Amino acid sequence: MAENKSHGTITKDNHAALWHGRFAEGPDAAAVEFETSIHVDERMALDDIRGSKAHAAMLSKQKIISEKENEEIQKGLDSIEQDLNSGKLSIDYSAEDIHSFIEATLTDRIGESGRKLHTGRSRNDQIALDERLYLRRVIPELQKQIASLIKTLADIASKHKDSLLTGYTHMQHAQPGTLAQHLCSWAWMLVRDYERLSDSLKRIALSPLGSGALAGSDLPLNREYVAELLNFDGVTQNSLDSVADRDYCIEFISDFSLIQMHLSRMCEEIVYWSTTEFGFVELSEKWSTGSSIMPQKKNPDFAELIRGRTGRVYGDLMNLLTMMKALPMSYDRDMQEDKAPLFDALDCVQGNIIVFEAMITSANWNKEKMAASCEGGFANATDVADYLVCKGMPFRTAHGVAAQCVRLAIDTGRKAIEELTLSEIKSISPLFEEDLFAKITPQACMRARKTTGAPSPEQTEKQIASLFAFCEGKI
Ligand code: ARG
Repeated sequence: MAENKSHGTITKDNHAALWHGRFAEGPDAAAVEFETSIHVDERMALDDIRGSKAHAAMLSKQKIISEKENEEIQKGLDSIEQDLNSGKLSIDYSAEDIHSFIEATLTDRIGESGRKLHTGRSRNDQIALDERLYLRRVIPELQKQIASLIKTLADIASKHKDSLLTGYTHMQHAQPGTLAQHLCSWAWMLVRDYERLSDSLKRIALSPLGSGALAGSDLPLNREYVAELLNFDGVTQNSLDSVADRDYCIEFISDFSLIQMHLSRMCEEIVYWSTTEFGFVELSEKWSTGSSIMPQKKNPDFAELIRGRTGRVYGDLMNLLTMMKALPMSYDRDMQEDKAPLFDALDCVQGNIIVFEAMITSANWNKEKMAASCEGGFANATDVADYLVCKGMPFRTAHGVAAQCVRLAIDTGRKAIEELTLSEIKSISPLFEEDLFAKITPQACMRARKTTGAPSPEQTEKQIASLFAFCEGKI
C-alpha cells in the first residue's frame, strides 16, 4: 500500500466516505448500510475504471494534472482491473459505491496522484457515464443471444416448411398454415426486439462526463476528447439534463419488457401445445419437470417460469417509471434506485432467452397431430369462397355461399365441407365442380397461399432466407 500522505486537516483514511470532510461525526452504521449501493453497482467496476482512465487522460491532455500523475493513475487503474479480474482484489463492501471503492483503492496503491482523479468530476456525471458504458458493453451480448434464438427458430422452421399446422384467430381454427410459418412469426418479433435495442443504443452514444455535479466545470475540461477516447459519437448538450436523465434505463427496460412479452407469448403456446389435447410438441426430459405426487407428470415448467417472470420485468419498468416521475432537476439520490430494476430486468431476459433456446432446440414436433389440427374446424371455408371468386362471384356473395356450405355440414352432422357430396354443394351454388375437393385439402389451401409472407413453402423459404441473412455476422 502506498503511503497515505496527510494534507492539512485531511487525515482520515482513503476508505472514508468521499464526502466526509464537512462532517464532524461519522454516519450511523445503519445509515451507511441503508445508503450503500455497492452490492448493486459493483458489476460496473470495469466500466468505472474505463471511464476514469479516459477522464485522467483528458485531465493530463488539458494540463490539469501532470503526465506523470496520469501515468500513475493509468497504471494504478490497470492493476486494479487486473486484480479484480484475477480475483486477487475483492470488492470492499463497506465502500459506499463502486466509484468510492475504485478511487480509494487507487489512492491506496499510488498515493497522492490518486487523489487527483476526481478533479472536475462528480459521481453524478460518473454514474451516468458508467451506466452508458455498461449498457454499451452488455446490450450487444443480449443482441447476440437474440440473434442466436432467431437462427435456431429459422433452423427448425427450415425442417418444417411442409408441416401443416392450423392457424388460429380468437383461438378458433382460422386458416391452414405450417409450423415453419408459425416459428418464423416468433422470429420476426425477435428481429424487431433486436433492432429496438440497436435504436436505444444510438441514444446513449453521447458522453455525459464533464457535466460535473450538475453545472459543468470551471476547469478547462475537454468533454469531446473523453467522448472520443470512450468511442462515443459526441457529448450530451445540457449539464443538468446529463445528470438527471435516466430515460435510457427506462427505454432499455421497455425494450426488455417487449422481449419478455414475446417470450411469454411463445411460452404460452409451448405450454398448451404440449398438452394431451394438442400434443403438437413434446419437450425433452432435460427441459421438463415431474410431480411429487402424480407419477405420470411431465410438466412444461420452464416455459411457465419464463412466462411467469414477465411480471418481474414489467414490475422493474413500473418501478423506474414511478421512481423518476416527480424528480426535480437535476440529480436526486432516488436515482440510485435505477440500477437494481435495470439489472434485474436484463438478467431475467438474458436467462430466459438462453433457457427458451435450449428448450425449443431439444423439443420434438408431432407432425401428425399438427396436421390433424387442420381437420374438423372448417379452416378451409375462406378457400371455398376464394374458389368461387376465381369463377367470377363477388367475394361478399361467395362468403355467404361458403357459410351456407358450413351450415349444411353442421346441420347434417358432417365435420368438414369436403364431407358434403358434389350435388349437395352444387345445390348451394352451381359454380362448384368436382375440382373443388382437391383444392380445399389443408395441404392445397396452405400451398395456394403464395403472397409475400404467406405460409406456402416457397414463401416460407424466402422468409427463412431473410432471417438467416439477418443473423449473419451477428452471432
Ligand atoms: N451511487 C450513486 C448513484 O448510483 C452515485 C451518485 C452519487 N451522487 C451523490 N450525490 N450522492 O446514483
